[in-house]
Amino acid sequence: MEQSYKRLFDNNRKWVEEKLNEDKEYFHRLSEGQKPEFFLIGCSDSRVSPDLITGVQPGEIFIHRNIANLAVHTDLNFLSALQYAVEVLQVKHVVVKGHYYCGGVRAAMSDDHHGLIDNWLVNIRDVMRLHQNELLAISDEEEKFRRLVELNVIEQVNNVKATSVMQKAIRSGNAPYVHGWVYDLNEGLLKDLEVSK
Ligand code: CO
Repeated sequence: MEQSYKRLFDNNRKWVEEKLNEDKEYFHRLSEGQKPEFFLIGCSDSRVSPDLITGVQPGEIFIHRNIANLAVHTDLNFLSALQYAVEVLQVKHVVVKGHYYCGGVRAAMSDDHHGLIDNWLVNIRDVMRLHQNELLAISDEEEKFRRLVELNVIEQVNNVKATSVMQKAIRSGNAPYVHGWVYDLNEGLLKDLEVSK
């Protein structure tokens, strides 16, 4: 097998060694269970790994990722992860984390056909339609792209809040906060959009 493939296993062994040097019980403790405070919905993009950019350890963030960090009401995968996070793990915060330079958002803005994925990206086209006036008023294409990334996060925050899982948690008085973040690949910084609900 090629070197780039083997490298992952070499890295893994080195990492295990390092962790065990620091703490002999590290893996044993992880095997006993998880109690993360955060559930994060992020993009599948390889450059935006939530644990890495927030400097947290395994066990701290429960994560669901898909193209363009969408919270879709008919997506059983997302809904199951949300239900588990809210009802079983009882996370304190749910975060929708988008990122500038998102290929999914860029594809949704173009008129090109991309095949199957267009059915997924139609959720972003809905966001464009909802915020048509604001977006039409932005003449600079890069600026429009950045704003759509933000608006997409805001609408996914709304979608999370509207799920039966969250509505039930709100009625019982112990719902987690829902936040919207955008990550800027170009400078490595996270921005809180201050739309927490
Ligand atoms: Co993306």
